[in-house]
Parts: sequence; C-alpha cells; structure tokens
Amino acid sequence: MFSKLKQIMKQPCIAVDLGTANTRIYSSELGQIMEKPSLIPQLPAGKTTFVSDEYLSYLNSKLVVTPLRGGVIVDIKKAITLLQPLLKETGKGLRHPISLASAPTDTSDKERELLAKAVLHAGASHVAIIPEAWAAAIGAGMDVTLPYAQVIVDIGEGVTDMAVIRDRHLIFASAVRTACSDLQKAIRSAIILKHKVCLSFDEIERLTHEISSMSQRQTLDPKTITVRGMDIIKKCLVAIDVNKLDIVSAMEPVIHKILKMIDSGLKKLPQTISSEVLESGICLSGGGACINGIDRLIASRTRLDVRIAPDPIHSVINGEIETLNYWKGHRNWWQNIVWPRLLSGYSLQT
Ligand SMILES: Nc1ncnc2c1ncn2[C@@H]1O[C@H](COP(=O)(O)OP(=O)(O)OP(=O)(O)O)[C@@H](O)[C@H]1O
Ligand SMILES: [Mg+2]
Repeated sequence: MFSKLKQIMKQPCIAVDLGTANTRIYSSELGQIMEKPSLIPQLPAGKTTFVSDEYLSYLNSKLVVTPLRGGVIVDIKKAITLLQPLLKETGKGLRHPISLASAPTDTSDKERELLAKAVLHAGASHVAIIPEAWAAAIGAGMDVTLPYAQVIVDIGEGVTDMAVIRDRHLIFASAVRTACSDLQKAIRSAIILKHKVCLSFDEIERLTHEISSMSQRQTLDPKTITVRGMDIIKKCLVAIDVNKLDIVSAMEPVIHKILKMIDSGLKKLPQTISSEVLESGICLSGGGACINGIDRLIASRTRLDVRIAPDPIHSVINGEIETLNYWKGHRNWWQNIVWPRLLSGYSLQT
C-alpha cells in the first residue's frame, strides 16, 4: 500500500517536442511517446457543417489550423488546447509533471517564454527548455562529449535549425524559418497556377515524399504523376497528370534557401573548427531529412559527408528523453538547465 501511495505521489517527468507539423510527448510514467499532428479544428467542438456539396465538404476539411509557424507558437490558446489532452494522458498520479521542452536555436526570449507558458498552462508544474538542434544531435546518436566539432541540421516543417557541437558545448547555431511547409506551399501554388487545381494537404505530402529533389532531375522516370485535387474553376474533384519536373522546379528556390543557410553558417566557422567538421561531416534529422536526395544536395553544396540520423523524425524527442534520463534522480534538475548564450562562451549542461 505504501509503495502504491509513493507511486501516486511521485512527480512524473515528460518531454515535449511541440513541432509545427507534429507534437510528440514522452511520459516517464508510461514509458512511451505519444504523437499527433499539431492541428486544431477551427470549428467549435461538436459543430460540423453538414454539406452535401463535395466542394464545400472539401473546404470544410481545410478548417484546421496549427498554433505554430516557423517552429514557434503564434497562437498560445490553440497551443494549450493542443497540449492539454496530451499532458492529461501522461500521468496517473496526483502531481503535475515536470517538463523538458525544446525550441529552435534562433528563438527569442519572448518566444521561449510563450512555449513555457503553454506547457505550464497545459498542466506541467515546471518547464525547462533546451535547443532543438542540441536535442536532435543527442537523439541522432551523436556523442556530444567528443573533443571535435560535429554538425547537426534539423529540417522540420517550419524551421531548419543547424548547430555545431563540440566538447559538450553548442558552439555555433544558425536557423532559417523555411522548411517542409514552404516546399509544400510552393508545390501547391505551382499546381494551382498551371492546372487551376488545388491539392489537399495529404496529396501534396504524397508528392513531396515520392518525388526526389533536384539532384536527380535527369532520372525522373516516369515523367508525370497523377494527383487528385479540387478544380477551382469547375469546383469539382479531378485527377490530373502533373509533370514531375514542374514539382522539382517549384521546390528548387526553397531548397536553395535551406542550402544557403547551411553553407553560409559553415563559412562563418573558424578554420580549426572547419577542419574538424571536414572530418566529422553533417548529420541530418527532422522530417525534411527524409526528402529524397536532400543528403546528396547538401553534400554537393558543402563538400562534406552527409548522413541521415537513424530515426530522423524522432531525433528531437529521443534526445529530450536521453536528457531526462541523464537528470533522473537529481533534485530540482530543471533549475540547472539554462538556455545557451551562443556568443559569450556559455556552457550547456546536459
Ligand atoms: N519521407 C518523407 N519525404 C519527404 N518529406 C517528409 C517525409 N517524411 C516526413 N516528411 C515531412 O516532414 C515534415 C514534418 O517534419 P517534422 O515532424 O520534423 O516537423 P516538426 O518537428 O513538426 O516541425 P518544426 O520542427 O519545424 O517545428 C512534413 O512536412 C512531412 O511531410
Ligand atoms: Mg521539429
């Protein structure tokens, strides 16, 4: 009975990866990751529009919003609505969980405050925030204690985050709020412009997953792909054949923006660090790491070895879980976690 009471009184720990596309929460009590799209229906609960017209039904299905843009919260109320039920599921005890969360390396104090506020309002008792790229590096299996520089690039839905890690320190970081969602927007616009057809989110996602990036321009075979979408002139669902090269061309400017951020970040590194990176290469994580051919593109632009993390989509949450395990048993561990001061030789404790 005493052990049962102890169990109920134990303060659980959770890890939160609140992403622009997906939210992942790990609970120490359940020992598992819960995952769901970061989407909130725009209609009030229980209210649906019963429309027979397929065009209106199609529009209705679009009435979902994400509380994040570019990897940061833009609507705190919706962020809390998203997190609350997930946090509720994380514990059976009486006490509110202590939460570890992560934010892109380029976030302002205000943006991180908003994240902390959302997690606290959703039900956590305390929250500590670490850089997303740092968590991604640990979750990708990098040994962050090694005495030479290693580079991680996390390409998510809203933000591409890059960090250079050396000897337990995050010594350089750079980010651009351009990632997979911009690729999808570019594809959607190109298809509307050419075919006057609006593709559903799922259909656009299928396209980005199936089509290789422009490193394989010559090998796009077959040349077309059939997609279904809403004809915005006739207002009915249609199937169209889309030229794969058009998709690749639409993706190009977005991919170039990502490549430019990585390349110019690497050029800012001191010579000694650059030569270490030449040896260690770049590790890719995040959903964007799965874009066919993205590793080859980054390799040819940077002339570095590029590898994809073993489980790129879960690198951030896995890194947070490892960080939680590291702190297990330490009293008030969350107070030891400070956001790194990148330019003034800070020390990030893990
Ligand atoms: N195999 C794949 N090919 C291409 N894109 C993919 C693949 N798998 C996932 N993605 C894309 O990855 C994106 C989601 O990535 P991820 O889950 O890392 O984002 P997030 O963590 O929610 O966003 P962020 O960290 O930027 O806030 C989606 O746009 C999805 O389509
Ligand atoms: Mg992410």
